[in-house]
Amino acid sequence: MEQLERIVERAHAAFQAAGDPAALENAKARFLGKSGELTAQLKSLGALAPEERRSAGARINAAKEQIERALDARRAQLADSRLQARLAEEAIDVTLPARGRGRGGVHPITRTWQRVEAIFGSIGFDIADGPEIESDWYNFTALNNPENHPARSMQDTFYVDLKDAQGLPALLRTHTSPMQVRYARMHRPPIKVIAPGRTYRVDSDATHSPMFHQVEGLWIDEDVSFADLKGVYTDFLHRFFETDALQVRFRPSYFPFTEPSAEIDMQFGSGPLRGRWLEISGAGQVHPSVVRNFGLDPERCIGFAFGSGLERLTMLRYGIDDLRLFFDGDLRFLRQFA
Ligand code: FA5
Ligand code: MG
Repeated sequence: MEQLERIVERAHAAFQAAGDPAALENAKARFLGKSGELTAQLKSLGALAPEERRSAGARINAAKEQIERALDARRAQLADSRLQARLAEEAIDVTLPARGRGRGGVHPITRTWQRVEAIFGSIGFDIADGPEIESDWYNFTALNNPENHPARSMQDTFYVDLKDAQGLPALLRTHTSPMQVRYARMHRPPIKVIAPGRTYRVDSDATHSPMFHQVEGLWIDEDVSFADLKGVYTDFLHRFFETDALQVRFRPSYFPFTEPSAEIDMQFGSGPLRGRWLEISGAGQVHPSVVRNFGLDPERCIGFAFGSGLERLTMLRYGIDDLRLFFDGDLRFLRQFA
């Protein structure tokens, strides 16, 4: 029976030596399989006398149970170490610094847009928004630009495969001025509104972008004069640039929808273009024909309008000499404003 104990010992050793489940199953076969060592012992029982057979059988069964327990224990050990290995492999090191998403920043044009809204909002201007795909009528005709009038060629644009109510192709608005008409037709005087937004033209150079931003301003009442335009606009510039030391000029100009008309220029105070003039806005007294298109009586209602470029205001504020930088998406540039 010493032999049985040794078989159990060898089984223990073989199971411990098995490094993975397949090796363990092979080792099991060597002891408990059809031609395994313990099975051979069972088979030998037949040769014993009946009285010895019973006690020998009991001992063999006890040995078999020991081997099976050892096998189960080793199986559990192997499964556990596999799990541990997998956990180690897939471990997340929570002490590593997070990758994070980085902090976003407000785009300089958006920042200008927000400042313009805050300044005009603080002096009682309403803020309106309107469509970028516009009809020929709102963009041109209602603004005293008759069809085929040469003034239209000052603002070449992109046409959309879509007809407006007059059967004319819709277009991407070339300025925010159609918002004067849209807003005035929906409100009674006093009308005091700004309408910032995107505009489009067939333009491209250091001071012109095919997509750019304007802010329209409109103030209509019974006695709003050109002097009010100069006062309100100059005050806006002082607040926008946070200084009164600005070089600004109102230069006589022409727009079909204003009379008299002016363009407003400002001198760069910093940057590579320091001292150079840049046009920032068109402006003027709203033309009587346009007031009529507002649905108002030009004998009673009068006022001013302006349309300013947000890119140009931003260029002047930060001393930037090329507006295309705003649209390149280069983080080295944009981060400077974050
Ligand atoms: C107009 O667009 C008129 N609607 C302005 C106006 C409104 C006049 C109300 C009278 C009354 P103008 O084409 O000059 O005018 O453009 C106005 C401003 O938009 C320019 O001074 C400039 O600052 C800006 N701008 C025009 N074209 C571009 C462009 N391609 N890229 C960037 N800014 C532009
Ligand atoms: Mg102009």
